Order: sequence, then C-alpha cells, then structure tokens
Amino acid sequence: MTTTATDPRTAMMTLLSPQGKRDPYPLYEALRAYGPLIPLGPGQLLVTGHAECARALREPALLSTDAAVQDAMMPGWRDHSSWRWLTKNMLFSDNPDHDRYRRFFGVAFTPRRIADLRPVVTERITALVDRLAALGADGSPVDFMAEFAFRVPMAVMGELLGIPEEEQPGFRGAIGAITTALEPIQDLEQLAPGDAAMDELAVHFTELVAERRARPGTDLVSELVRLRDGSGDLSEEELVANFMLLLVAGTEAPMDLIGNALRLAVEHPEHAGRLREDPSLAPGFVEETLRFDPAAQALNRMAARDFDFFGVPVTAGTKVTLLIAAGNRDPRQYADPGVFDPARQGNHALTLSGGAHYCLGAGLARMQAEIALPTVLRRLPGLALAGEPTFRDQLVQRGFGQLPVKCG
Ligand code: HEM
Repeated sequence: MTTTATDPRTAMMTLLSPQGKRDPYPLYEALRAYGPLIPLGPGQLLVTGHAECARALREPALLSTDAAVQDAMMPGWRDHSSWRWLTKNMLFSDNPDHDRYRRFFGVAFTPRRIADLRPVVTERITALVDRLAALGADGSPVDFMAEFAFRVPMAVMGELLGIPEEEQPGFRGAIGAITTALEPIQDLEQLAPGDAAMDELAVHFTELVAERRARPGTDLVSELVRLRDGSGDLSEEELVANFMLLLVAGTEAPMDLIGNALRLAVEHPEHAGRLREDPSLAPGFVEETLRFDPAAQALNRMAARDFDFFGVPVTAGTKVTLLIAAGNRDPRQYADPGVFDPARQGNHALTLSGGAHYCLGAGLARMQAEIALPTVLRRLPGLALAGEPTFRDQLVQRGFGQLPVKCG
C-alpha cells in the first residue's frame, strides 16, 4: 500500500480502519512527515519519534489509564467489567498502587526465576514443534497461530498459573477478547466481548485462588496466595486482577511475536538460513522482529499536569498516544529503519515499553521466542506459507488471526 501525505487526522482515521491495521507502516511515515510530536487539536497529542516515545514512557507527569484517568477519557466505563478489572491491575495503575503491585508480582519474574524456567520452556517447545510436524505431515495446511504460536506462551503461563494442558487451548478466545478492550472504541458496546471474557476469567481465577489456598501446590498461584495472605499487601480482587493480566499479557503478545518472527523468517530465507545454522543468532532476530513488526503498536497516556514536552506545551488532561511502532522506525534513531536486519546493533526497540511499566515478562517473552524460532526452523526446514495470513482487527495488540503454513 502506498500512502500520500495527508492530514494527520485522516491518517489516524485510516490507521484505525481494517486496511490501516493490516499495513500501518506507510501511515506512520505519512504521520512522521508532520514531526515527532503532532498536536491533534486541543487535548490530544500524537508521538511518532523514538526519543520522544522513550522520554514519554519515563515521564512522571504522564499517567497510565488508571481509574481516575478513565473517568476523564471513557465516561461510563465503570459499567463494564473489562475495565473494572483492568484498572485493578498494575498495567492500568499509577502510584502508589503501581509500585505496590509491581513489588508484589516482581518476585516471580526476576532474571534468576526466568532462567530457572528455561528447561521446562525448552521441553514444551520441543513437544509443540513435534506436534506441529505431525499435524502437517500429510502436507495439509496448518494454522501456525492456533497450533503453535499461541500454544507456546500458553504452555508457559499454564505452567506458572497451574492451568492443565488439556484446558489451555480453551483460553484463547477469552484472552483475545480481553485484548480487544484495549483498542480505541467509538461506542462502549464494543466492550461487550471483553466484558464477557473478563467475567469468565474472573470466575476461573477466583476459584483457582480458593482452591490453592485450601490445597497449596508448587505453582506461582499457590506461592502468591501464601504471600498475600501473609502480608495483606493486596486485596483478593487485586490478586485476581493481576493473575488475569499475567495470563493475557503473557500469552497474546508473545503469540504475536512468534507469529511475526516466523513470517519474517519465511520472507527472509537468507536470515532464516543463518539462524537455522546458528541458533545463537536468535536474540538478534527476535529483537529485530520486536522493532520491525511489533506485537504492541500504540500505548496511551494522559497528562496529570501542565508541562513542557520537547518545546510543546502539554496541558493537564491531554491524551497522549505513543505510536511506538512508528518510533521503532524513526530514521533519527535507526539507519535504514525499513530494512529487517537481525544483525542490527543497539536496537532499543520501544515494543516492551520503558520506565515504570516496562514489561514485567520481557525476559520470558524473549526467551520463548529465542528458543521457539530456531527449533521450528531446524525441525521443519521446508516450512512455507500455505496462503495469505489474516489479521485480527486490532492495532494496539496487532497480529495475525491465522497464519497458514505447510510443514514441508
Ligand atoms: C512479545 C511479548 C510482549 C510484549 C510485546 C509486551 C509488551 C508490553 C508492554 C508494551 C507493556 C507496557 C505497556 C505500557 O507501558 O503501557 C507491558 C507490560 C506488562 N507486561 Fe508485557 N509484553 C510481552 C510479554 C509479556 C509476558 C510474557 C508477560 C508475563 C509473563 C508480560 C507481562 C506484563 C505485565 C505484568 C506488564 C505490566 C507491567 C507494569 O505495568 O508494571 N508481558 N508489556
């Protein structure tokens, strides 16, 4: 798709259309022509620059969409259980709650704890690649998203959250529906699928917490229930809300990272070949996938007070949209930003956020993708696309709906 420079509002409207979500990158370039900071009328600011997004993520005057912010941005949200639960998790909180949540859950995602998971993650991935190979053995097309990209992170989160393997595929619908609540909406009714899914997951995790309290096991849920009951630092609802966040954040974006990485491997056989030969190249490949085709494309903030941002006066209440996927292709930051180059040094992609909300699962997401990709490429050297992929109608959490492949 080519896009001629248009006014920023039209470019934003196109970006939110199904066509724009399928291929947003030319629209980011059209927007970039207006500068790294684009005021969209009073009370709204778009950020397309890398340095500006990076600073915004670390700016204390810019708040995440917590309950008070939602009162200003989305009146009526309190009638919707998706956002009632979301605003009790760390991602959609600001201090002092955010620090409290992050301290509590941070213990589970230290580099040491993530490194300890490597053997089990490797084992799950090997089994899932074997399964994929078996599904495609007769040459029929297989949906890589449903049969592999989702199952890998779901197996990892299932291990942590004590979700038995046979129940794991059943969570995909609810997880996907909850991520749609993060998209820009015209009408609160669009939250209905997210509300229903959140209600379903809330019942599941409330029961799971009660069950682990009664019969503790060795999983993370048992450990965190025990910690909560000992410290009283968290309410029962906050515990459940953050377990739901872990499940959703821990599966949907890593699924898209694995799907996007596979598509890039298929499109760039020279890079895929090198990675197949030398799996130690995986971190560079994964980092460049995160930059080039990010699973999370935009983040929202709101100004808590008046302040000056790179010379632009921002007033309290301004809605600030960080187009991190545009920042990832900022020519002031990257040489040849439109080129997929897994050997790129000093990547600093914005995709896992930064500052206080820096992705808690970043190490875990990278580890899974770094193991999964070379394992697939080595086991299935003839893997190829078996049709056009479909995209979900989403931009904030952008990714394939289906990615049909032939296993060779
Ligand atoms: C490629 C995969 C992933 C991507 C692209 C991603 C992206 C992000 C982004 C952009 C944020 C911050 C949003 C903001 O600043 O407003 C975030 C936060 C978070 N992520 Fe991830 N994530 C990924 C994987 C994971 C995994 C595997 C987990 C869980 C194990 C996880 C758990 C979280 C949590 C709990 C937060 C909230 C942190 C906070 O608010 O302090 N994420 N992630």
